[in-house]
Amino acid sequence: AGLRSGSQANLFPPLEDAMLPSGSFNNRVALITGGGTGLGRAMTATLSQLGAQCIIASRKLDVLQRTAEEISSQTGNKVHAVQCDVRDPQAVAQCVDQIEALTGLPDVIINNAAGNFVCPSERLSPNAWKTVTDIVLNGTAFVTLELGKRLIQNRKGASFLAITTIYAESGSGFVVPSASAKAGVEALYKSLAAEWGRYGHRFNIIQPGPIRTKGAFSRLDPTGAFEKSMIDRIPTGRLGTPAEIANLAAYVSSNYASWMSGAVIRFDGGEYVSLAGE
Ligand code: HXC
Repeated sequence: AGLRSGSQANLFPPLEDAMLPSGSFNNRVALITGGGTGLGRAMTATLSQLGAQCIIASRKLDVLQRTAEEISSQTGNKVHAVQCDVRDPQAVAQCVDQIEALTGLPDVIINNAAGNFVCPSERLSPNAWKTVTDIVLNGTAFVTLELGKRLIQNRKGASFLAITTIYAESGSGFVVPSASAKAGVEALYKSLAAEWGRYGHRFNIIQPGPIRTKGAFSRLDPTGAFEKSMIDRIPTGRLGTPAEIANLAAYVSSNYASWMSGAVIRFDGGEYVSLAGE
């Protein structure tokens, strides 16, 4: 493992610039849940850079507003901040009302909001289980169903993307509510891809491996103890970057991918297959 991570790290350097041609998202509206921080913020920055008018939604309005101002001042494209607790279906419906008034219904929906913590399963309280599965599975379902329904009424198709994790497929100890809920999200998206293609909706899934983001790392690996062992497991010898996920998300959400639906895209530097072969 040492050889693998040490010697190959520089063969696969991350690129940070936007991959698609500029203007790829001109005249398009994108909603990114959890867009204030981490991967959501990176995806918002890339879509905004490519011309999209973005809406970012989460519980913390102050965080959203700061991110919205920072990104729109860099890209020159408007980013709206809308407060929304995705666990509450009424709040989601109100948030969608607000979005309709601000921008009209979006063309691109990225369900990225998530909650997670590391905990031995024998210590999980029912409320701990409910907290994570409510944000991840119910939140994604409420946002997706509310928007999907209204888009169908308006005869408008959209690209829906869910950000899950490779352990939605493999399972993983100590993050059991997250793994279970993310597996549910994948079933939801595959099922809706089968049912709602006729309305012009596409549903795809990106499964990131470990990506260095401040929030998740300070929460899930506060001492940095797991980082080295994570890198040792990854054949390409490094963690992923938010910009790499953002470029993939932009491609999947763009018209270049207009025939892609029901896809599950693993993006993990080879970690999953490497673990499966051990
Ligand atoms: C055990 C815990 C816990 C922990 C909270 N709980 N943290 N149990 N271990 N570390 C329990 C509480 O005791 C409580 O149950 C219940 O969960 C609700 O906790 P609250 O703190 O009241 O909930 P809330 O304020 O809503 O916070 C939600 C959260 C928090 C999920 C707990 O972490 C959060 O807001 N996270 C959002 C951002 C985030 O986590 N992003 C990272 C996603 S990364 P009781 O029974 O006591 O009432 C990701 C991919 C990971 O998902 C990839 C890794 C490589």
